[in-house]
Amino acid sequence: MSNRFRFLGGQRGVWRVTGMTAVSGAGLDPVAAVDVVNNASPDVPDGTSWVLQGFTSNIRYATTTELRTLQAIQQPPGRPDSTRAALIPLKKTSQWWDLPQDARRRIFEETSHHTEIGLRYLPPIARRLHHCRDLGEPFDFVTWFECAPEYSAAFDDLLAKLRATEEWSFIEREVDIRLERAHG
Ligand code: HEM
Repeated sequence: MSNRFRFLGGQRGVWRVTGMTAVSGAGLDPVAAVDVVNNASPDVPDGTSWVLQGFTSNIRYATTTELRTLQAIQQPPGRPDSTRAALIPLKKTSQWWDLPQDARRRIFEETSHHTEIGLRYLPPIARRLHHCRDLGEPFDFVTWFECAPEYSAAFDDLLAKLRATEEWSFIEREVDIRLERAHG
């Protein structure tokens, strides 16, 4: 599997868009559907309005214990009953990127408890983090989450908790795109 993922917003696609919200900064053009493409091909089908892209990478912040806990309980995207998804591209401020690694880790976990909060929602929520800052993309990260319909409310609860953290005060652009697809 390539570590490159592209998200094609357009008129057709496996995932039907059920909502698009500009949470911070500029939104994205409204689309009817999103396709997730896991290869490095530059081909973009006719009718595509926008493309978000990124790559999975090594960890930056997680400690040995956090990583072991994550690996023990997390489930990958693609489960047949995961018919709901969220595609949330994010950009952090230059103040964030100017901080040294230890200060960013402190805000990310010791102050904001990102991993500690997130772990409470596993395994029902599956996640995949894509980095794209170093590709010169308009966002720094493209995040992807999947769950069964009965966990959609829990996902909203998780998002509300994270958006209230100090980490989120460094987010300058965030678009929340909700999707659904037919059962597996
Ligand atoms: C589902 C539960 C979640 C868990 C268990 C979780 C866990 C993690 C962990 C462990 C990392 C650090 C990876 C590393 O060491 O490099 C991380 C990074 C990140 N997560 Fe989450 N997360 C969750 C939900 C979310 C949500 C809902 C969002 C956004 C809407 C999000 C956005 C991000 C971003 C943008 C990063 C990268 C931060 C940076 O490098 O500055 N996460 N997450």
